[in-house]
Amino acid sequence: MKSKFVCVALMLAANAWAVDVSMPPTKSAATANVERGRKLLISRQETGCVLCHRIPGMKEGGEMGPSLSGLSQRMSADQIRQRIADWRAVNPQTFMPAYFSTKGLHNVAKPQIGKTVLTEQGLEDIVAYLLDATKGP
Ligand code: HEC
Repeated sequence: MKSKFVCVALMLAANAWAVDVSMPPTKSAATANVERGRKLLISRQETGCVLCHRIPGMKEGGEMGPSLSGLSQRMSADQIRQRIADWRAVNPQTFMPAYFSTKGLHNVAKPQIGKTVLTEQGLEDIVAYLLDATKGP
């Protein structure tokens, strides 16, 4: 009986840890721009976010990932930043691409080696748009 409780407690602790994984602002946060973030989010070429997500303020949107409505009420800016940079830190099995990491990539085309999908500025611009668009009533 007791071991069942220990097990549940461990699971809760592991879950709390996962939710808390977050990435502090980079130096580009100071120059983040909501409008540039909107353009990046909507671009199928540069990010493809709208292939998988419905995003407030955008007509286009897919449903392979969760809707981003109300996002800023569910998580902090640092948690949002971490999830876009590299979701694998939260869920190693995720199929959302890591947009600001080169960890574990193989067989990358030569000109792209060592490059992240988003620049640091692009990451901050997207975080700024998502915070702004989901800040609630
Ligand atoms: C191939 C599909 C796909 C693409 C492309 C994608 N995502 Fe995701 N995203 C997901 C999935 C799936 C999840 C849920 C993560 C999980 O549980 O593994 C997710 C979760 C998220 C979350 C957390 C939402 C929540 O409420 O928990 C945010 C924020 C997010 N994505 C932002 C983005 C942004 C910004 C982009 C583009 C830069 C993007 N995603 C591109 C599939 C995708």
